[in-house]
Amino acid sequence: MTLNMLIMGPAGAGKGTMSELIEKKYNVAHISTGDMFRSEIKNNTELGQKATEYIKQGLLVPDEVTIAMVLKRMSQPDCDGGYLLDGFPRSLVQANVFDTKVIETPKEVNIVINLTVDKEALFDRIENRRICRQCGAVYNMHTLPPKVEGVCDNCGGELYQRADDNRESLERRMQSYEEETFPVLTHYRRLNLVHDVNASQTIEEVWADVQKVIDGFIAEHQEGK
Ligand code: AP5
Ligand code: MG
Repeated sequence: MTLNMLIMGPAGAGKGTMSELIEKKYNVAHISTGDMFRSEIKNNTELGQKATEYIKQGLLVPDEVTIAMVLKRMSQPDCDGGYLLDGFPRSLVQANVFDTKVIETPKEVNIVINLTVDKEALFDRIENRRICRQCGAVYNMHTLPPKVEGVCDNCGGELYQRADDNRESLERRMQSYEEETFPVLTHYRRLNLVHDVNASQTIEEVWADVQKVIDGFIAEHQEGK
C-alpha cells in the first residue's frame, strides 16, 4: 500500500513547511493547489487569469476549476507511488468528487494530517513568511530566517512575500477555512482517517509528531493489519 495523504490546517499552520519535509523523507508526490495556482498566475495562463482575483482576496477558487486541475495532476505517473495533497480538498464538493474518483482504487486516501494552531500565531507567521522565487523554499523572518536577508539558502534565489499575505486577505482565508474547509475535516474524521498534530510547537517538534503518525501507519501496515 502506498502513502496517500492529505495535509490540512488553516493558513499559516505549516502545511507547506511539513510537506517539504514529508516529500523528502517519504518520497511522495507533493501537490499543493496554492503553489499550482501561483505558478499558473506567474505564467499568465488562462487558468491563472481565472484564479488570480480569488487568491488575492483570500477566497476559494471555484470548485470546477480546482477539481479539474487536481485530477489532471493526479493522473501523472509520479502519484502512483504515493502522494501528499496540500490544500485540497477544501470544500465538501471537492471532497465528494475526489473521494468518488479514488475510493477502492490504489489511490484511496489513508492518512489525513490535521495541523492545529492558535489563531493569533497565524497572523505573525503569515506576515513574516518569505518564499524563494526560484525553488519555492519557505522561510520566516522570525522563526526560520535565511542566512542572508532576502536570499534563499538553498539556491541563492530572491525571497518574496505572497500577494495574499496581508491581514485583510488572511481574515478571509480564515473565514473560508472555518466555513468551507472545516466540514471536510469532519467528513474525514467520520472515516477515522484524521490525525491531529499540535502545530503550535517548534518546526522540529511538529516534524517529530508528523513522522510518528506516518511511521505508525507504515508499521501497522507492515504488520499486515
Ligand atoms: P494556499 O497556498 O494553500 O494557502 P493557505 O491554505 O492559506 O496556507 P498557506 O500556504 O498560507 O500556509 P501553510 O499552512 O502552507 O504554512 P507555511 O508552511 O507556508 O492557498 C492559497 C490560495 O489558493 C487560497 O486562499 C485559495 O484562494 C486558493 N486555493 C488553494 N487551494 C484551493 C482549493 N483546494 N480550492 C479553492 N481554492 C484554493 O508556514 C507559514 C509560515 O510559518 C512560514 O513562514 C513558516 O516558515 C512558518 N512556520 C511554519 N511552521 C512553523 C512552526 N511550527 N513554528 C514557527 N513558524 C512556523
Ligand atoms: Mg502553503
